[in-house]
Amino acid sequence: MKTLILYYSRTGNNRFAAQRLAEALDCEIEEIRPASGGFFSLLLGSALKFGLGNRKLARNPADFDRVILCGPIWMGQIVLPLRVFIRKYGRSLKSLTFVTVCGSDEASKDTGFGYETVFAKFRALLGEKFAGGLAIPVTLIPGSGVDATKVILTEANFTGEIAARFQAVADRLRSVN
Ligand SMILES: Cc1cc2nc3c(=O)[nH]c(=O)nc-3n(C[C@H](O)[C@H](O)[C@H](O)COP(=O)(O)O)c2cc1C
Repeated sequence: MKTLILYYSRTGNNRFAAQRLAEALDCEIEEIRPASGGFFSLLLGSALKFGLGNRKLARNPADFDRVILCGPIWMGQIVLPLRVFIRKYGRSLKSLTFVTVCGSDEASKDTGFGYETVFAKFRALLGEKFAGGLAIPVTLIPGSGVDATKVILTEANFTGEIAARFQAVADRLRSVN
């Protein structure tokens, strides 16, 4: 299966996971970069589902059997760069899986800010093409503390439960190959 990983990351967590996933799956990877806009306009745009587009991608995602989209969750929403990507390419894709390094966890996954709630939004946008969502909660980082929005994944703390969760996600995605 020809797989393309596309990621958007503001503080590096999803870049970290996406790059390791590309190594684990031995597939191509490309960054989704907003055309412009600081954090607050992206945040507002994510909430309002409106904003500027992304820069042009070097690859055509429609040429791949599967796209794995990696990115954060903000305020229980699909972040604007990922929404813009889906708006532009959704119809032409064969299959999309969403992988998120996010702040919500098993206990909060079904709340308004939880990853399952966001997976349901992907399903509503993509229908049958949505192959599912996989979450890697930052709260699994050893000693991550109380404010999950400020935890940064690094080589040093990529260990224990978070590394095990990443491995499970990679194994699951590899098994579809
Ligand atoms: C403003 C803001 C809002 C957030 N809201 C949520 C949320 O609703 N649900 C969630 O699971 N994580 C939430 N997070 C946590 C991010 O998803 C998490 O920090 C993610 O790993 C950041 O990814 P990045 O480093 O790739 O940008 C939020 C983070 C920020 C900064």
